[in-house]
Order: sequence, then C-alpha cells, then structure tokens
Amino acid sequence: MLQKIQETADFLRTKISTNPKTGIILGTGLGNLVTQITDKTEIPYQTIPNFPVSTVEGHSGKLIVGKLGNVDVLAMQGRFHYYEGYDMKDVTFPVRVMKALGIDTLLVSNASGGVDPNFEIGDLMIITDHINLFPEHPLRGKNFPELGTRFPDMSDAYSKELIEKARQIAAKHKIKVVEGVYVGTTGPTFETPAEYRYFRAIGGDAVGMSTVPEVIVANHAGIRCFGISIITDLGVPGKIVEVSHEEVQQIGNSVQPLMTLIMKELIN
Ligand code: HPA
Repeated sequence: MLQKIQETADFLRTKISTNPKTGIILGTGLGNLVTQITDKTEIPYQTIPNFPVSTVEGHSGKLIVGKLGNVDVLAMQGRFHYYEGYDMKDVTFPVRVMKALGIDTLLVSNASGGVDPNFEIGDLMIITDHINLFPEHPLRGKNFPELGTRFPDMSDAYSKELIEKARQIAAKHKIKVVEGVYVGTTGPTFETPAEYRYFRAIGGDAVGMSTVPEVIVANHAGIRCFGISIITDLGVPGKIVEVSHEEVQQIGNSVQPLMTLIMKELIN
C-alpha cells in the first residue's frame, strides 16, 4: 500500500504545479462546486495509476486541481462507494494520496436521508459526528505507523473549529443549516421504515452510504475534516415516501449552490 500511495502521488505531482493543502470530496450529483474552481487541471480517475474507477450514475469521476477563490484545492468529483464492490482500502485510497500530496484539511459532501423529525427535505446538515455501521473497517489489518497511529482518537473527527466557522458563514448569508450525526451504512438499498427508526434510535440524524470511511482514514492521517450532508429525503415516521436515486440527485442539485457558498468561504 505504501508503495502504491507513493506511485500515485508521484504521478499526480507531474500533473500539477501547485501544492494544495485543502482536499474536497464531492458526493452524488454534487459537482456544482467545481464550476467555481479556476485555473483547472482535470485528471480523469481512469488515467491515475492505482485509482479505482467510479461506476455510479451521476459521478463523472475526476480529480480537479485549481483555485477556489484564492486557495489551491484538490477536488474529487465523484467518490468510491463500498456498495460498488470496492474494499475499504480502495474506497479510502484517494485520502491516503491526498495526505502524501500535503493535504491537511478535507471537506466532504454527501446526500443523505434525514431521520431527525425536525429536518426538512433540502436542508443542509453540518455533520457534527458520525456512527460507523459499515461491516468492514478501513483501518483493519496491519497498521503502518508512517500513515498514522494504531488506535486513532475520534473525539474531534469533524473539526469543531471548522464547524463553528461554517455556522458563522451560514448565519452571515442567512442560509438555513441544521446539524447532526451522520450514520454511515453500506446501502445500496435505501432503508426500510424499521431501519430508519433504528438509525434514529441509536443517535443518528441522517443516514447515507459514504463519507465515514474517508473521514476515518483522514483522521488516522491527521487531516482535519469538515462535512456537509444534503437531506434529500426523510426517513421519519409519517413522512416516508418512496425514494429514488434520481430524486436524491434532483434535490441535491437544487441546494448545492448554497453548500458551495459555505464551503468556498470556509476554505478561504
Ligand atoms: N438512505 C441512505 N442513503 C441515502 C439516502 C437515504 O435515505 N438518501 C440519500 N442517500
């Protein structure tokens, strides 16, 4: 793994002339932020050695390096999901590469189903914490001290400092944000009503199929994280209706400019 990370980082260094410190991972249909990146270099995943290739509809699958405002960023448009069949080392490989390239802050976005009865469809949720329900842990197996410690602390997995800044940015622009705990589960099924109730009962506010593996590995690597979830449907008793991937993308599309604004200002 160490050799693969170096190989991929070396390849990317030949493609980019800047040293971004900020990484971004954009979720399902949430590529709007890249329209704000200037001086862009785009690197399709399939041209990057050792990178898995994304297969889900709505993910164009490329690395984009450029400037967001005044800041150099490295953005992933499209991520690798566990439900696609990758193992956790593949899902989180890009985060390892980001670290090797000097990234120290990671912003992630996703679409999720709200289980907090106070949430509404289209809400932006600042992720304050997560619950990992994936059946495979990305750090299982031999630990390489070069990459991080064996038993990483997760008490500040989502940087409190960045959360506070994001709150202030949202308030300044009068953007409604909610906050909560993201439950990460494998999918690809959306939840049964009983499963939504279960995720609420264990302390979740939203449930989705991503983010947790990347944030775990980022924390292992000493990268501070910030996450926003777009609530695209509700798993709340009485409000549960049929969900489809298309609807999730549609709702995501409609609110992502607000998320882009928060992320852009936060980065700057
Ligand atoms: N459940 C899981 N993942 C999701 C959902 C959901 O309801 N909505 C968007 N991603």
